[in-house]
Amino acid sequence: MSTTKRIAILTGGGDAPGLNAVIRAVVKSACNRGCECVGLEDSFDGLIYPDRVRVLTPRDVTGILRQGGTILGTTNRGDPFAYTADPASAKQDYSARCIERFHELKLDALVAIGGDGTLAIAYEFFKRGIPLVGVPKTIDNDIVGTNSTFGFDSAVSFATEAIDRLHVTAEAHHRVMLVEVMGRHAGWIALHAGVAGGADVILIPEIPYELERVAGCIAERERRGARFSIVVVAEGAVPSGGEVSVIEQAREGRLARLGGLGGQVAARLEELTGKEARSVVLGHLQRGGGPTSFDRVLATRFGGKAVDLIMAGQFGHMVANRPPNIVSVPLEEVVGRTKQVPSDLDLVRTARALGISFGD
Ligand code: F6P
Repeated sequence: MSTTKRIAILTGGGDAPGLNAVIRAVVKSACNRGCECVGLEDSFDGLIYPDRVRVLTPRDVTGILRQGGTILGTTNRGDPFAYTADPASAKQDYSARCIERFHELKLDALVAIGGDGTLAIAYEFFKRGIPLVGVPKTIDNDIVGTNSTFGFDSAVSFATEAIDRLHVTAEAHHRVMLVEVMGRHAGWIALHAGVAGGADVILIPEIPYELERVAGCIAERERRGARFSIVVVAEGAVPSGGEVSVIEQAREGRLARLGGLGGQVAARLEELTGKEARSVVLGHLQRGGGPTSFDRVLATRFGGKAVDLIMAGQFGHMVANRPPNIVSVPLEEVVGRTKQVPSDLDLVRTARALGISFGD
């Protein structure tokens, strides 16, 4: 019989459709087993500031399954091990304060729902004695150890619909249409949405591209009578021998903001092909909106499994999707690594066989 009584939940990093579905699943299944749940607001800030904690009952999570965002709030700037309370002050280590607060709140376990950054912080707390489990989240789908993360399917569905719409206008105007999607270090969204949307070119961080080759592909399509082209660009794609496109350099506690690649590629392709090109940045629209049915189910399974792990006392693990099962993976095997698109992935090979160019 488990002795677990009070479970805390937090969401960290960029939001992803399905966060609320995980919160709901944890609260409902934990409460049905006699536990009490508390929500920590704005990621680990919930353990720093006394007023950022609230009890979560099944009633509090009713109706949130289909909602995007997170009812707990989130931040991608709240690392307690290097925390800046206000932009003017220097970084300080707030981790001891968080651990103290965890015990003060009489918590028995923590469910940390987040991406690579949040899971890495969670692992540090686990090493310092906090009993916790991780739940992987990111629209980018770049967390190792799990086949997929919730949010990815929702982002791909949205990007695919956008590409469908752009196809129509590209064809009408005989233009080249660039669609810039998220994907900092990994091109999963670009690859899946590109294939699902029937793109002609897909540029991803894992495969350095040459614009002359992309222009060649567009010219070849023109020769065959296709007077328009769709190019899907992951924000983190890099030209061969070049650099990633940054719109704001990294600074104190913040990663560099990527972006601008779609516009640059469009301008250069106009020069190289003589065709009109336009670019669209899907940006945070990919993170907003409600989760797809696939993501609702995956998030619910993750939440249920997280409670199972807590009941079994299996801490320091992350829940993971390994079809047909939801399994657990030690956080140690996950943190500090990125799941990139392998160049020999079947979907990459199939895309190439269909004539889709990766610009290489
Ligand atoms: O969730 C990851 C991600 O979607 C990256 O692809 C992107 O670079 C980043 O979030 C943008 O985050 P922010 O909300 O800080 O602009």
